[in-house]
Amino acid sequence: TPAAVLGPDHGYGPDIDHVLLSEEQIQAKITELAEQVARDYEGREVLLVGVLKGAVLFMSDFARALRLPTQMEFMAVSSYGSSTSSSGVVRILKDLDRDISDRHVLVLEDIIDSGLTLSWLLKNLGGRRPASLEVCALLRKPDAIKVEVPVRYVGFDIPNEFVVGYGLDYAERYRDLPYIGTLKPEVYEK
Ligand code: XMP
Ligand code: MG
Repeated sequence: TPAAVLGPDHGYGPDIDHVLLSEEQIQAKITELAEQVARDYEGREVLLVGVLKGAVLFMSDFARALRLPTQMEFMAVSSYGSSTSSSGVVRILKDLDRDISDRHVLVLEDIIDSGLTLSWLLKNLGGRRPASLEVCALLRKPDAIKVEVPVRYVGFDIPNEFVVGYGLDYAERYRDLPYIGTLKPEVYEK
């Protein structure tokens, strides 16, 4: 993809190896997902639960694209493990502010890698007796799945490589990129 088409790179350009999904592709997919969700939830009030921090940009764009009244809640979890892989042992850093019983909950996730984090989260949220509980993930890495998780809506299936941008970080950087890409190997050596 030519640099001009990608738009602002916030100065990260030199660190990016290749762009996987352009801003335009991401936004078009969000519109598509939002239309599907709006049809499925017609007449119901949706409670969007965003998983911090990765899903912040997705939540912001998705909530605006979704032509339904929604409320937003955020949860922050951390899975013990290295910065680039998760262990499935999850700790709540920030819980929801409100009770979700009898609510139609749609969890917004940035990426499903092994599925361990989401699997834990669904058990946790499911125990709070929501009226319904579904997941909308922007990205999924089918080759990395360790546990099957029922995901109703998926934006893109991507190869099993570490990606950054559009909410996704490496060492807290690159979340603010409007596109999704991979990093040059030398970035990890710094
Ligand atoms: P699991 O393996 O539990 O992981 O499905 C989900 C969480 O791991 C992080 N993750 C990534 N973060 N680029 C990132 O910046 C990636 O390629 C990536 N893969 C997994 C992310 O926090 C996600 O919620
Ligand atoms: Mg991260």
